[in-house]
Amino acid sequence: MNDELGFTHHWEKPARADGSVLLLLHGTGGDERDLLPLGRLLAPGAGLLSPRGQALENGAPRFFRRLAEGVFDVPDLIARAGDLARFVERAADAYGFARGSAIAVGYSNGANIASATMLLHPGTVRGAVLFRGMIPLEPERLPDLAGMPVLLSNGRTDPIVPAAQVSGLEALLRRANANVTVHWQRSGHELTNEAVNWAQDWLQEQLPASFADREDSDRA
Ligand code: MLT
Repeated sequence: MNDELGFTHHWEKPARADGSVLLLLHGTGGDERDLLPLGRLLAPGAGLLSPRGQALENGAPRFFRRLAEGVFDVPDLIARAGDLARFVERAADAYGFARGSAIAVGYSNGANIASATMLLHPGTVRGAVLFRGMIPLEPERLPDLAGMPVLLSNGRTDPIVPAAQVSGLEALLRRANANVTVHWQRSGHELTNEAVNWAQDWLQEQLPASFADREDSDRA
C-alpha cells in the first residue's frame, strides 16, 4: 500500500522488458488488492497499478458517488475521473512508464470510472477491458479515441447492467472512434472464468508482439 500520488494504491513493476502496465480498477467495496490476481492472470509479468476508490458508500470504496443503483452523481464522476487521470499521469512519471501507455482493466464501478476517464481524458490509457460496465455519462463533446481497443465483457442476465446499457456504451465508444469488441457470457454481474479467459486472449493481441514472443520462449 502506498498513499502517495493522490490515491492509496498498489504498484508492481513490470517483469517484462516491454514494460506493459495494467491499470486495475476494482468494483464497489473492493480495494487496491482486489484485482491483483486477475491482473497477473490476464497479462503475466505486466506492471500493475491499482488505486483504491476514494468515494465511500457506507464505508465501501468506490471511484465516484451514485444516487441509486445505476444512477450516477455526474458532477462527482467528472471530478473524480480528473483525479484518476492526474494520478495515472503522476504514477507514470514516478514509476517510469510512458504516459498513456497503460491498459485499464475495470470491473463494475471500476469499468465505469475507466470509460468515463477515457471519454473525458482520452490520453490517460491506450485501451481497456471493461467487465460489467455501463454508460458512465454522455460527454458534451466526444473525444477522438482513434482506434483505441476496448473490450466490453458483460453477462446476459446481469440484473445491474441491462443489455441496452451495453449497446449504448458500445455505440458511444464507437462514435468516439474506439475499436470496440463486445463479448457476452451466460452469466450475471459476477466475473466468470469464461469472461477472464476471453479477456486474456483479447489482451494478448493488444500487448506488444515482444510480450507474446517472450511468453512463448519462456514456455519453450
Ligand atoms: C456503479 O455504481 O458503478 C454500478 O452500478 C456498478 C456497481 O458498482 O454496482
